[in-house]
Amino acid sequence: MKAENLARKGILKIESYIPGKSIEEVQKEFGAKRWIKLASNENLLGPSPKAIAAIRKELPTIYLYPEGPCTVLRKALAERFAISEGMVVISNGADNLILMIANAFVDEEDEVVMADPTFPVYTNVTQIMGGKPIKVKLKDFTHDLDTMLKKVNRKTKLVFICNPNNPTGTTVSLESFNYFLSHLPKHVIVVLDEAYGDFVEDAFYPNGLDYIREKRQIIVLRTFSKVYGLAGLRIGYALGKEDLVNCLYQVRDPFPVHRLAQVAAVAALNDEDHAVKSIQLVYEGKRYLYKELDRMGLLYVPSQANFIFIDFEKDSGEIFQALLREGIIIRPGKIWGYSTFARVTIGRMEDNRRFIKALKKVLFQ
Ligand SMILES: Cc1ncc(COP(=O)(O)O)c(C=O)c1O
Repeated sequence: MKAENLARKGILKIESYIPGKSIEEVQKEFGAKRWIKLASNENLLGPSPKAIAAIRKELPTIYLYPEGPCTVLRKALAERFAISEGMVVISNGADNLILMIANAFVDEEDEVVMADPTFPVYTNVTQIMGGKPIKVKLKDFTHDLDTMLKKVNRKTKLVFICNPNNPTGTTVSLESFNYFLSHLPKHVIVVLDEAYGDFVEDAFYPNGLDYIREKRQIIVLRTFSKVYGLAGLRIGYALGKEDLVNCLYQVRDPFPVHRLAQVAAVAALNDEDHAVKSIQLVYEGKRYLYKELDRMGLLYVPSQANFIFIDFEKDSGEIFQALLREGIIIRPGKIWGYSTFARVTIGRMEDNRRFIKALKKVLFQ
């Protein structure tokens, strides 16, 4: 019998997630260059040297299974955030936690409300579970929480709020978020994805931790892939009140995080200097890029994250191709329905300067 007849209903219709192009991938087509990847919002400063040292030290023990619940890291996170260890669950990337959330809470025919565009994994996991993604267009590039609230009904199980939003870099205001929460029925869980939360400059940003401490019906997602520069190791975590987190443990793999990721994450968490340096670099790069984009007369969405959504006012797929020839990888916006836009990661100053130089060549020469 054909596998497609054996697969669960709807599984084969799910659109697969298209990641940013990797350096290995583009090298095959364009050859070896001094590549800069500005396509997946990694930390171009790299990992903390303390994380690398911790990995080296751990290497001889990799013949042993890792410690399943990631006790050391869980304790460190709970202490840092002044919450109980039972409110923390760690897994192999926020991506995996998003799947775990769907696995734990989304039944067939349940509705899951989310923005459009936003991080596409929310749609994928909802569909895997046989749920229905309910997409609400952004308003001024930001979550339209009023309309999202109107879409909530008896069938709604989850609402995903990506804050800052990927790909636009915008945040919801404290006031609109509080209004939204106070009007939400009790059967709905809010998932606040704060993958880029460390980069937010807005003082009136609704920090998920405040709501977690109040034991609201919210799950906050965070990751070591962005500010901590450990994307290749795959490690992230979710925070929430104990009963929500317990449900996530029910669907958690026994050993989802390997030994090297666990020790690197603990070391990275304790390297405050590296994290601060990484954030400051993003702020400095953002100011520089805004200034240069203004000079070129290009419009962009002011960002609270480590990337900028830029409007090139022409097919960004062509600009993407032209920049590849210059050794630079960006993320064209067609997949999000914005074909003249692209999302560009803020890198180190030398990366940002190279991007601007190449962009000027591509646009004006
Ligand atoms: C908004 C958002 N959430 C979650 C993730 C996944 O993070 P992780 O690398 O921890 O799986 C990403 C990755 O780019 C993201 O942009």
